Amino acid sequence: MPPDSSRWRALTSVFASVVEPAGFGLVVPPMFEDLGVFLRLGDATDVVTKEMYDFEDKGGRRVALRPEHTAGVCRAFVQHRPATPWKVWYSGSNFRYEKAQAGRYRQFDQVGVEVLGVDDPLLDVEVIALAWKFYAALGLREVELVVNSLGDEDDRASYVDALRRHFGARNDELSPEARATLERNPLRVLDSKRPQDAAAVAAAPSMRDHLSPDAKSHFEAVVSGLATLGVPHRIDDRLVRGLDYYRRTTFEFVAHRLEGSQNAVGGGGRYDGLVEDLGGPSTPGVGFALGIDRTLLACDAEGCFPLPNPGVDVFVVDTSGGGTALEITHELRSLGRSADRAWEQRSMKSQMKSADRSGAKVAVIVGSDEVAAGTCTVRNLGTSEQTTVARSDLAAHLDALLGPVGDARRPA
Ligand code: HAM
Repeated sequence: MPPDSSRWRALTSVFASVVEPAGFGLVVPPMFEDLGVFLRLGDATDVVTKEMYDFEDKGGRRVALRPEHTAGVCRAFVQHRPATPWKVWYSGSNFRYEKAQAGRYRQFDQVGVEVLGVDDPLLDVEVIALAWKFYAALGLREVELVVNSLGDEDDRASYVDALRRHFGARNDELSPEARATLERNPLRVLDSKRPQDAAAVAAAPSMRDHLSPDAKSHFEAVVSGLATLGVPHRIDDRLVRGLDYYRRTTFEFVAHRLEGSQNAVGGGGRYDGLVEDLGGPSTPGVGFALGIDRTLLACDAEGCFPLPNPGVDVFVVDTSGGGTALEITHELRSLGRSADRAWEQRSMKSQMKSADRSGAKVAVIVGSDEVAAGTCTVRNLGTSEQTTVARSDLAAHLDALLGPVGDARRPA
């Protein structure tokens, strides 16, 4: 709701201002898709097994509210076959049936990018650096970038086998939750934060020992590209992430001021097999999504990216019947000046109260005398100074007082 929503929108504008100059165009995927599109996220992932809002529509089709954007973007690519590299960005809601708590919601928003059709580690660097630049543009300083490689499909499979053997041998010491996870998805056992699992997790084999030479050199190029751009990062070979489609590069942005289990403000990686899985040609892909809700919580925690000034420039107080306010607001808005007014022919006192509440810097006051004389009184609501000006000079007078329309120097 306003005024918070203005901060929300400002965040999306900052995101657009970072990614559009890098050649990304806006994509607006549907809120819901055929369930099959999202089953590609992996039948061993929580997102698919527990968290999907899926249902049957009136035509008997199984559909699901999108739990994320990547799969829908890839489906659109397969359907429309745009030229590659296809660089797109998005902003919108996602739905996951999770245990709702601070920073974890059943409807949450993301901004993100996806690039389809390029198998170059330097693109991974470009993509990660854009997210980094975005956080910096918000003023966030305590976000850490964590990177890892999950290797190619075969590397990942051999690593999963190694983990299954490792945790299987220590099954007795694992928590019941970790044992259940091991059955479904051995990679996710690495995510266990339970003290009981800590020793087994610490002793687990490393992904790095299972990377093919190609995957290894891809990862080295990513890490060295990040260093070239001066993007600080930590390599964590336990970073596995919650979606199954990742191949090679994976990364996450962690906000250290937020509560442990909800401190990932964004994440992404490569998903080279996903387009093929959805029936398209073999097409590499890489991207990220950043949680808007959590990113704003991180901004609150760091005291950055405050609410933009929500007020209008001018509030018109009209005690002559209201018609003059109709004309003046219309005229000022046509010139690009934000303006509001009171209704229902309220008293002067009541209208001045509304003017104060509106956050406007200036009240333009007109009564019957001013209407007859073709003037208006301009009152600075901060200093209470008043000047009477001709109606025809009003816009120029406001420019002098408030700065030209759209001026970023507009007083806060
Ligand atoms: P994800 O890690 O599932 O990745 O979500 C990305 C971000 O969305 C998280 O880091 C978090 O900030 C936010 N998020 C996720 N679930 C919730 C929730 N229940 N409540 C609030 N915020 C949440 C993806 O969604 C992938 N599609 C990212 C990607 C794009 N990979 C490649 N391209």
